[in-house]
Amino acid sequence: MILVGGPASTYLAEKLSEASGLKLVKVEHKLFPDGESYIRFPEDVSGEDLLIVQGLHPPQDRHAFQACLLADTALDLGARSIRLLAPYLAYARQDRRFSNGEALSLSTLLKLLKAVGYERVYTVNIHSPWAVKPSPVPVEDILAEEALAEYVRALRLEEALVVSVGKKGKCMAERVAGSLGTKYLVAQSTRDKITGEVSVEIEDGVEGRSVLVVDDIISTGGTMAKLVERLKIMGARRIIAACIHGLMVGDAAEKILKAGAETIISSDTVPSEYSRYSVAKILARKILGGT
Ligand code: R5P
Repeated sequence: MILVGGPASTYLAEKLSEASGLKLVKVEHKLFPDGESYIRFPEDVSGEDLLIVQGLHPPQDRHAFQACLLADTALDLGARSIRLLAPYLAYARQDRRFSNGEALSLSTLLKLLKAVGYERVYTVNIHSPWAVKPSPVPVEDILAEEALAEYVRALRLEEALVVSVGKKGKCMAERVAGSLGTKYLVAQSTRDKITGEVSVEIEDGVEGRSVLVVDDIISTGGTMAKLVERLKIMGARRIIAACIHGLMVGDAAEKILKAGAETIISSDTVPSEYSRYSVAKILARKILGGT
Protein backbone atom coordinates (compact mmCIF):
# COMPACT_ATOMS: atom_id res chain seq x y z
CA MET A 1 0.00 0.00 0.00
CA ILE A 2 1.28 3.43 -0.97
CA LEU A 3 -0.15 6.80 0.05
CA VAL A 4 -0.73 9.41 -2.60
CA GLY A 5 -0.94 13.04 -1.47
CA GLY A 6 -3.42 14.89 -3.64
CA PRO A 7 -3.26 18.69 -4.09
CA ALA A 8 -5.96 19.32 -1.46
CA SER A 9 -4.41 17.28 1.34
CA THR A 10 -0.63 17.10 1.02
CA TYR A 11 -0.13 18.08 4.67
CA LEU A 12 -2.49 15.43 6.02
CA ALA A 13 -0.99 12.80 3.71
CA GLU A 14 2.45 13.59 5.16
CA LYS A 15 1.14 13.21 8.70
CA LEU A 16 -0.55 9.96 7.76
CA SER A 17 2.68 8.68 6.27
CA GLU A 18 4.50 9.56 9.52
CA ALA A 19 1.81 7.88 11.62
CA SER A 20 1.65 4.72 9.49
CA GLY A 21 5.20 4.41 8.16
CA LEU A 22 3.79 4.02 4.65
CA LYS A 23 5.57 5.46 1.64
CA LEU A 24 4.08 8.71 0.33
CA VAL A 25 4.02 9.76 -3.29
CA LYS A 26 3.43 13.51 -3.55
CA VAL A 27 1.62 14.32 -6.73
CA GLU A 28 2.91 17.31 -8.68
CA HIS A 29 0.20 19.81 -9.38
CA LYS A 30 -0.37 23.30 -10.66
CA LEU A 31 -3.14 25.39 -12.07
CA PHE A 32 -3.01 26.57 -15.64
CA PRO A 33 -3.60 30.31 -16.12
CA ASP A 34 -7.24 29.63 -17.00
CA GLY A 35 -7.80 27.69 -13.76
CA GLU A 36 -7.60 24.12 -15.10
CA SER A 37 -5.82 21.55 -12.93
CA TYR A 38 -2.61 19.79 -13.92
CA ILE A 39 -1.43 16.73 -12.04
CA ARG A 40 1.48 14.34 -12.53
CA PHE A 41 2.60 11.23 -10.68
CA PRO A 42 6.37 11.69 -10.30
CA GLU A 43 6.93 8.00 -9.49
CA ASP A 44 5.95 4.62 -10.84
CA VAL A 45 2.75 3.37 -9.19
CA SER A 46 2.14 0.37 -11.45
CA GLY A 47 1.06 -2.77 -9.62
CA GLU A 48 0.51 -0.82 -6.37
CA ASP A 49 -2.52 -0.51 -4.11
CA LEU A 50 -3.02 3.20 -3.56
CA LEU A 51 -4.73 5.23 -0.88
CA ILE A 52 -5.26 8.62 -2.48
CA VAL A 53 -5.60 11.40 0.09
CA GLN A 54 -7.63 14.25 -1.35
CA GLY A 55 -10.07 16.28 0.71
CA LEU A 56 -13.15 17.65 -0.99
CA HIS A 57 -13.32 20.90 0.98
CA PRO A 58 -13.57 24.28 -0.79
CA PRO A 59 -13.04 24.76 -3.65
CA GLN A 60 -15.08 21.55 -3.72
CA ASP A 61 -15.63 21.25 -7.45
CA ARG A 62 -11.94 21.71 -8.23
CA HIS A 63 -10.90 19.23 -5.53
CA ALA A 64 -13.51 16.73 -6.70
CA PHE A 65 -12.31 16.92 -10.28
CA GLN A 66 -8.71 16.53 -9.09
CA ALA A 67 -9.83 13.38 -7.21
CA CYS A 68 -11.15 12.11 -10.56
CA LEU A 69 -7.90 13.00 -12.37
CA LEU A 70 -5.87 11.23 -9.67
CA ALA A 71 -7.98 8.07 -9.94
CA ASP A 72 -8.09 7.88 -13.70
CA THR A 73 -4.38 8.64 -14.07
CA ALA A 74 -3.32 6.16 -11.38
CA LEU A 75 -5.30 3.34 -13.02
CA ASP A 76 -4.05 4.32 -16.45
CA LEU A 77 -0.48 4.14 -15.10
CA GLY A 78 -1.16 0.58 -13.93
CA ALA A 79 -2.08 0.95 -10.23
CA ARG A 80 -3.66 -2.29 -9.00
CA SER A 81 -6.35 -0.70 -6.85
CA ILE A 82 -7.32 2.75 -5.64
CA ARG A 83 -9.16 3.94 -2.58
CA LEU A 84 -9.94 7.53 -1.70
CA LEU A 85 -9.45 9.17 1.66
CA ALA A 86 -11.51 12.37 1.49
CA PRO A 87 -11.26 13.68 5.06
CA TYR A 88 -14.02 16.14 4.23
CA LEU A 89 -16.73 14.85 1.91
CA ALA A 90 -18.31 17.64 -0.11
CA TYR A 91 -22.01 17.93 -0.87
CA ALA A 92 -23.03 15.83 2.12
CA ARG A 93 -25.50 18.57 3.04
CA GLN A 94 -27.30 18.20 -0.30
CA ASP A 95 -28.19 14.57 0.28
CA ARG A 96 -31.86 14.89 -0.66
CA ARG A 97 -34.26 17.04 -2.64
CA PHE A 98 -35.38 19.81 -0.31
CA SER A 99 -37.31 21.46 -3.17
CA ASN A 100 -38.62 19.93 -6.40
CA GLY A 101 -36.08 19.65 -9.17
CA GLU A 102 -32.95 20.05 -7.05
CA ALA A 103 -29.79 18.07 -7.86
CA LEU A 104 -29.03 15.13 -5.57
CA SER A 105 -25.47 16.40 -5.38
CA LEU A 106 -24.05 13.84 -2.95
CA SER A 107 -25.43 10.99 -5.03
CA THR A 108 -23.90 12.47 -8.21
CA LEU A 109 -20.53 12.86 -6.52
CA LEU A 110 -20.53 9.25 -5.28
CA LYS A 111 -21.50 7.96 -8.75
CA LEU A 112 -18.57 9.91 -10.20
CA LEU A 113 -16.10 8.52 -7.66
CA LYS A 114 -17.30 5.01 -8.46
CA ALA A 115 -17.12 5.64 -12.21
CA VAL A 116 -13.47 6.74 -12.08
CA GLY A 117 -12.52 3.54 -10.29
CA TYR A 118 -12.42 4.14 -6.53
CA GLU A 119 -13.15 0.87 -4.73
CA ARG A 120 -13.86 2.51 -1.39
CA VAL A 121 -14.09 6.00 0.06
CA TYR A 122 -13.06 6.87 3.61
CA THR A 123 -14.17 10.08 5.19
CA VAL A 124 -14.33 11.72 8.60
CA ASN A 125 -17.53 12.65 10.48
CA ILE A 126 -19.71 12.78 7.41
CA HIS A 127 -22.55 15.25 7.75
CA SER A 128 -25.19 12.76 6.57
CA PRO A 129 -24.18 9.20 7.52
CA TRP A 130 -27.64 7.94 6.52
CA ALA A 131 -27.14 9.14 2.94
CA VAL A 132 -24.24 6.83 2.13
CA LYS A 133 -26.03 3.62 3.06
CA PRO A 134 -26.37 2.40 0.40
CA SER A 135 -23.95 4.13 -1.95
CA PRO A 136 -22.61 3.22 -5.41
CA VAL A 137 -19.15 3.10 -3.83
CA PRO A 138 -18.76 1.91 -0.21
CA VAL A 139 -18.22 4.87 2.11
CA GLU A 140 -16.64 4.36 5.52
CA ASP A 141 -17.14 7.12 8.06
CA ILE A 142 -14.41 7.53 10.67
CA LEU A 143 -15.27 9.46 13.82
CA ALA A 144 -12.71 11.94 15.08
CA GLU A 145 -14.17 13.11 18.41
CA GLU A 146 -11.45 11.20 20.25
CA ALA A 147 -8.77 13.40 18.62
CA LEU A 148 -10.69 16.55 19.56
CA ALA A 149 -11.08 15.35 23.15
CA GLU A 150 -7.38 14.53 23.38
CA TYR A 151 -6.51 18.08 22.33
CA VAL A 152 -9.06 19.66 24.68
CA ARG A 153 -7.87 17.52 27.61
CA ALA A 154 -4.47 19.16 27.29
CA LEU A 155 -6.10 22.61 27.66
CA ARG A 156 -7.10 21.64 31.20
CA LEU A 157 -10.55 23.24 31.06
CA GLU A 158 -11.78 22.32 34.51
CA GLU A 159 -15.15 20.56 34.33
CA ALA A 160 -16.02 21.96 30.94
CA LEU A 161 -19.62 21.44 29.97
CA VAL A 162 -19.96 20.18 26.40
CA VAL A 163 -22.75 21.77 24.37
CA SER A 164 -23.89 20.84 20.89
CA VAL A 165 -26.95 21.30 18.76
CA GLY A 166 -29.56 18.99 17.24
CA LYS A 167 -29.84 15.20 17.06
CA LYS A 168 -26.47 14.58 15.41
CA GLY A 169 -24.86 17.14 17.72
CA LYS A 170 -26.17 15.13 20.66
CA CYS A 171 -24.21 12.07 19.51
CA MET A 172 -21.11 14.19 19.04
CA ALA A 173 -21.49 15.88 22.45
CA GLU A 174 -22.02 12.47 24.05
CA ARG A 175 -18.81 11.11 22.53
CA VAL A 176 -16.69 14.18 23.37
CA ALA A 177 -18.09 14.44 26.91
CA GLY A 178 -17.63 10.68 27.32
CA SER A 179 -13.95 10.95 26.35
CA LEU A 180 -13.47 13.95 28.66
CA GLY A 181 -15.45 12.43 31.51
CA THR A 182 -17.71 15.46 31.72
CA LYS A 183 -21.38 16.37 31.15
CA TYR A 184 -23.17 17.67 28.06
CA LEU A 185 -26.21 19.68 27.07
CA VAL A 186 -28.03 19.69 23.74
CA ALA A 187 -29.34 22.91 22.24
CA GLN A 188 -32.22 23.05 19.77
CA SER A 189 -31.84 25.08 16.60
CA THR A 190 -34.10 26.14 13.77
CA ARG A 191 -32.97 27.53 10.45
CA ASP A 192 -35.17 29.75 8.32
CA LYS A 193 -35.46 28.01 4.91
CA ILE A 194 -35.43 31.28 3.02
CA THR A 195 -32.98 33.51 4.91
CA GLY A 196 -30.82 30.73 6.41
CA GLU A 197 -31.06 32.58 9.77
CA VAL A 198 -30.48 30.23 12.73
CA SER A 199 -32.07 30.56 16.18
CA VAL A 200 -31.11 28.43 19.21
CA GLU A 201 -32.54 27.41 22.57
CA ILE A 202 -30.37 26.05 25.40
CA GLU A 203 -31.58 24.75 28.76
CA ASP A 204 -30.33 26.33 32.00
CA GLY A 205 -27.17 25.21 33.77
CA VAL A 206 -24.34 27.03 32.00
CA GLU A 207 -23.94 30.00 34.35
CA GLY A 208 -20.36 30.37 35.57
CA ARG A 209 -19.25 27.29 33.63
CA SER A 210 -16.51 26.72 31.07
CA VAL A 211 -18.27 25.52 27.95
CA LEU A 212 -16.91 23.58 25.01
CA VAL A 213 -19.31 24.02 22.08
CA VAL A 214 -18.92 21.26 19.51
CA ASP A 215 -20.32 20.89 16.01
CA ASP A 216 -19.32 18.71 13.08
CA ILE A 217 -18.90 21.64 10.68
CA ILE A 218 -18.30 25.34 10.97
CA SER A 219 -19.19 26.73 7.57
CA THR A 220 -20.46 30.32 7.62
CA GLY A 221 -20.14 30.29 11.41
CA GLY A 222 -23.80 31.26 11.82
CA THR A 223 -24.80 28.27 13.98
CA MET A 224 -21.72 28.43 16.19
CA ALA A 225 -21.97 32.21 16.63
CA LYS A 226 -25.62 31.90 17.70
CA LEU A 227 -24.74 29.22 20.25
CA VAL A 228 -21.85 31.25 21.63
CA GLU A 229 -23.96 34.40 21.81
CA ARG A 230 -26.73 32.56 23.67
CA LEU A 231 -24.26 30.94 26.09
CA LYS A 232 -22.67 34.30 26.79
CA ILE A 233 -26.08 35.83 27.61
CA MET A 234 -26.80 32.85 29.87
CA GLY A 235 -23.64 33.59 31.86
CA ALA A 236 -21.10 31.02 30.64
CA ARG A 237 -17.66 31.98 31.95
CA ARG A 238 -15.39 30.67 29.18
CA ILE A 239 -16.56 29.49 25.77
CA ILE A 240 -14.44 27.45 23.38
CA ALA A 241 -15.82 26.81 19.89
CA ALA A 242 -14.77 23.46 18.45
CA CYS A 243 -15.53 21.45 15.35
CA ILE A 244 -14.17 18.67 13.22
CA HIS A 245 -14.35 20.43 9.84
CA GLY A 246 -13.55 24.13 9.92
CA LEU A 247 -14.60 25.38 6.50
CA MET A 248 -14.48 28.92 7.88
CA VAL A 249 -16.31 30.52 4.98
CA GLY A 250 -15.92 34.31 4.74
CA ASP A 251 -15.98 36.01 8.13
CA ALA A 252 -17.02 32.86 10.05
CA ALA A 253 -14.18 33.10 12.57
CA GLU A 254 -14.72 36.80 13.19
CA LYS A 255 -18.44 36.18 13.87
CA ILE A 256 -17.71 33.44 16.39
CA LEU A 257 -15.01 35.37 18.21
CA LYS A 258 -17.11 38.53 18.25
CA ALA A 259 -19.99 36.54 19.75
CA GLY A 260 -17.73 35.75 22.71
CA ALA A 261 -15.74 32.59 22.01
CA GLU A 262 -12.27 32.59 23.51
CA THR A 263 -10.85 30.52 20.70
CA ILE A 264 -11.77 28.27 17.78
CA ILE A 265 -10.51 24.74 17.40
CA SER A 266 -10.81 22.58 14.31
CA SER A 267 -9.02 19.55 12.94
CA ASP A 268 -6.76 19.29 9.91
CA THR A 269 -9.41 17.63 7.70
CA VAL A 270 -9.75 21.13 6.25
CA PRO A 271 -6.47 23.01 6.57
CA SER A 272 -6.76 26.46 8.13
CA GLU A 273 -5.17 28.63 10.80
CA TYR A 274 -7.67 27.03 13.23
CA SER A 275 -6.47 23.46 12.55
CA ARG A 276 -5.21 22.74 16.05
CA TYR A 277 -5.46 18.97 16.18
CA SER A 278 -4.81 16.19 13.71
CA VAL A 279 -6.96 13.26 12.66
CA ALA A 280 -3.91 11.48 11.18
CA LYS A 281 -3.39 9.02 14.03
CA ILE A 282 -7.03 7.95 14.08
CA LEU A 283 -7.02 7.52 10.30
CA ALA A 284 -3.80 5.51 10.42
CA ARG A 285 -5.30 3.24 13.05
CA LYS A 286 -8.74 2.82 11.46
CA ILE A 287 -7.71 2.53 7.82
CA LEU A 288 -4.17 1.24 7.92
CA GLY A 289 -4.02 -0.53 11.25
CA GLY A 290 -1.16 1.74 12.42
CA THR A 291 -0.47 2.75 16.02
C1 R5P B 1 -25.72 21.42 10.68
O1 R5P B 1 -26.45 20.43 10.61
C2 R5P B 1 -24.27 21.26 10.94
O2 R5P B 1 -24.02 20.38 12.00
C3 R5P B 1 -23.62 22.58 11.24
O3 R5P B 1 -24.24 23.14 12.38
C4 R5P B 1 -23.77 23.53 10.09
O4 R5P B 1 -23.36 22.92 8.91
C5 R5P B 1 -22.94 24.77 10.34
O5 R5P B 1 -23.14 25.68 9.28
P1 R5P B 1 -22.92 27.22 9.50
O6 R5P B 1 -21.55 27.39 10.07
O7 R5P B 1 -23.06 27.80 8.13
O8 R5P B 1 -23.99 27.69 10.42
